[in-house]
Amino acid sequence: MSEHSKFLLADSQIPSVWVNVLPSLPEPMDPPLHPGTRAPLTPQDLLPLFPMELIEQEFSPKPLIDIPGEVMDIYRLWRATPLYRARRLEKLLDTPAHIYYKYEGTSPAGSHKPNTAVPQAYYNKRAGIKRLATETGAGQWGSALSLACQLFGMECTVYMVRVSYDQKPYRRMMMHTWGAEVFASPSEHTHAGRGVLAATPDSPGSLGIAISEAVEDAATHDDTNYALGSVLNHVMLHQTVIGQEAKLQMEQAGEEPEVVIGCFGGGSNFGGLALPYVLDRLAGKGPRIVAVEPSACPTLTKGTLTYDYGDTAKLTPLLKMYTLGHDFMPPGIHAGGLRYHGASPLLSHLLKLGQIEAKSYRQLPVFEAALSFARTEGILPAPESAHAIRAAVDEALLAREEGRARVILFCLSGHGHFDLSSYESYLTGQLQDYEYAGQDVARALAGI
Ligand SMILES: Cc1ncc(COP(=O)(O)O)c(C=O)c1O
Repeated sequence: MSEHSKFLLADSQIPSVWVNVLPSLPEPMDPPLHPGTRAPLTPQDLLPLFPMELIEQEFSPKPLIDIPGEVMDIYRLWRATPLYRARRLEKLLDTPAHIYYKYEGTSPAGSHKPNTAVPQAYYNKRAGIKRLATETGAGQWGSALSLACQLFGMECTVYMVRVSYDQKPYRRMMMHTWGAEVFASPSEHTHAGRGVLAATPDSPGSLGIAISEAVEDAATHDDTNYALGSVLNHVMLHQTVIGQEAKLQMEQAGEEPEVVIGCFGGGSNFGGLALPYVLDRLAGKGPRIVAVEPSACPTLTKGTLTYDYGDTAKLTPLLKMYTLGHDFMPPGIHAGGLRYHGASPLLSHLLKLGQIEAKSYRQLPVFEAALSFARTEGILPAPESAHAIRAAVDEALLAREEGRARVILFCLSGHGHFDLSSYESYLTGQLQDYEYAGQDVARALAGI
């Protein structure tokens, strides 16, 4: 085993394909349904929103999909991302466990989101689309797409959840710097937004509302398409560069993970790291795989697996997924990127099949782990990513109790440089725990 703390790859080792688990599933997924007719969706149904090449990826039977050269050229700006062994954190925890983390915060936007923003902008540009509309929660996805559109000479419109718009002015300025226009959602720019504002003028917004606005914007403008930063199969596919690189780097470290962990909002950083390992499991030998979500938005741990809309205004197709109900109004907890009512249908399916596990944490223990990490490893994590740190720390503490080494790998999906107001709240004792109650879940699900 190597004594190194940092495992790097050469440009020539950056994956040149995305790996697709769809053809390896032991049971096929239930298809998405048309929101009007409720018939299984056809590729043509999605054309008002997405270019055909992305639609094909959404349903692709191919196990490997080549990454286009122009996308590779941009990936090389920051990929391959580093894998670290958290030796100082291990020491603090006095654990025999070996903790590794794949750090996606080295991208220009500061998270894993550009891994899919870049190919999405690329395929839209090739289809002759001039502008992309999207939503953003924490601001990470909006920044990633703003960057990608800028690099391909496209326009970008971002509907940013009101509470994040107010909490994170610098994320907004980052998007402006990369040339995007940004509206606080709910906004006056769409029918969906005006409807919410009429009913609740001081609405803090939600990802579900912002998605409705972006989808409406795209569907009502011929030169504009919609881009989603998580949930859909093609997004999971693009993110598999994370897990493919991590496998090479773990090989360099001379170790195999026993457990693989990622925080879970819609599932893309988690899926990106986990899906290459899911293929190992499906072939008979692979690690435990754990998704970590906030107790304030417990989609996988308290939601129901059923058909639901991806947005509040019921404009999107019906997806078979774990959901808290499309009109779920999340509390304004700080991990803005983990406040989505639904989940990736692919990862929902794998959870149902027992291939992955899910757990939830309240935000105070999450921030406690974030601080331990920042004070030992140096990197100030995004509050979303800190959920994965919490779970990794608990696995390491369990290893200490059992007196047994175990190899833990987690995804550190982004840095928290634009989340310092959350850190301030935590450090000044103002951050409160919130757990979404059972009766709230029942009420939200009754609306499905
Ligand atoms: C740093 C970071 N991690 C994780 C997430 C959650 O998204 P996903 O579950 O798609 O990875 C977000 C979303 O904005 C994010 O900004």
